[in-house]
Amino acid sequence: MARIGLMGCGTVATYGHLPAIAETAGLTLAAVYDPSAIAVAAAAARYGVHGFTDAAAFFAAGLDAITITSPAPVHRQNVADAARRGVHILCEKPLGTDEDEIAGMIRTAADAGVQLYTAFDYRFSPVSQSIKHLVESRAVGDVRALRLIYIWNCHGKYATVDGQRVLQARRAARMDEGGPLVDCGVHQIDLARWWTGSEVVRWSAAGAWVDAFTAPDHLFLHLDHANGAHTLVEISYSYGHTATEPSAHFSYELIGTEGVIRFDREARLFEVRSTRGTETLPVAPEKNFAGMYAALASALAHGGSDVLPTGADGLAATRLARAATEAVMAGRLLTVQK
Ligand SMILES: NC(=O)c1ccc[n+]([C@@H]2O[C@H](COP(=O)([O-])OP(=O)(O)OC[C@H]3O[C@@H](n4cnc5c(N)ncnc54)[C@H](O)[C@@H]3O)[C@@H](O)[C@H]2O)c1
Repeated sequence: MARIGLMGCGTVATYGHLPAIAETAGLTLAAVYDPSAIAVAAAAARYGVHGFTDAAAFFAAGLDAITITSPAPVHRQNVADAARRGVHILCEKPLGTDEDEIAGMIRTAADAGVQLYTAFDYRFSPVSQSIKHLVESRAVGDVRALRLIYIWNCHGKYATVDGQRVLQARRAARMDEGGPLVDCGVHQIDLARWWTGSEVVRWSAAGAWVDAFTAPDHLFLHLDHANGAHTLVEISYSYGHTATEPSAHFSYELIGTEGVIRFDREARLFEVRSTRGTETLPVAPEKNFAGMYAALASALAHGGSDVLPTGADGLAATRLARAATEAVMAGRLLTVQK
């Protein structure tokens, strides 16, 4: 039984990682850490484990691996703390804040001989797994074009605190860390690389400022893959960000020489339309933490994994997302012709 520690008892830990670790055969949640005493106490009480606000004491609990669910700017420190103690790592996306930082994290893990994985949980959704199988079995022939869309309000522009309308700090923090492509779009970039099995050899990007952050909050990213396929990623954190009844759109379309694979989360539609007719497939959420932890349990038992996304996968996605966002910012038209 592998002993798992978790660093960062916030939102994604609470709804995703902690329940999944607790229910995964072969893993036991041994300890949780957070510099916030309130956050750590809640997680520790809920799962009946020791909670620490001191990192050295946390690692002294005797851990085989840690999950990092802290904010991106502190991932590097968390990785360094685990690696020098020989503890394996599953780290949330974005793996780090920029290319140099992530490359350093990969080196740190490799030098220490510990496994480092990126928590691209979207890969483990039954929908994503089915798409991978459909692409590999050529259900729609050669996949030539992909449209991956996730446009939403990132919890909205405003929150209500003590009856007062205030700016939503969570959305602002994600925008300050790079915006929707760096924060969320890395999942879509990863899926495009993984589904096509083909590296991105050229890209271009355009974007818009719907709200007033430094980074663009609505982006269009075009990726040319080495095998000739082309991916469009459209991503937004300001789609209905001030609306009282916002809606979101999350979809995958893979267009092949023999048909189309289509997943539309809001329409609860997952189908393949091909020369063989139309097949409707079971819909599932786009995230799957339990599937990711089953893969981690196997990786820890067998000393490695060819299923879990690697540090290199995390680097590839963040490097591209960051470069594209910076290119859009550099090319911003400050005066618009009317
Ligand atoms: N894969 C997904 O689907 C998904 C979804 C949401 C967030 N995320 C990612 O997960 C990470 C956390 O996001 P969140 O929304 O849960 O954030 P959050 O702000 O809700 O939680 C982060 C927690 O980390 C704690 N923390 C701060 N400094 C720390 C440190 N040095 N070491 C350990 N913990 C520390 C905070 O006190 C807080 O409790 C981010 O990298 C984010 O991009 C991934």
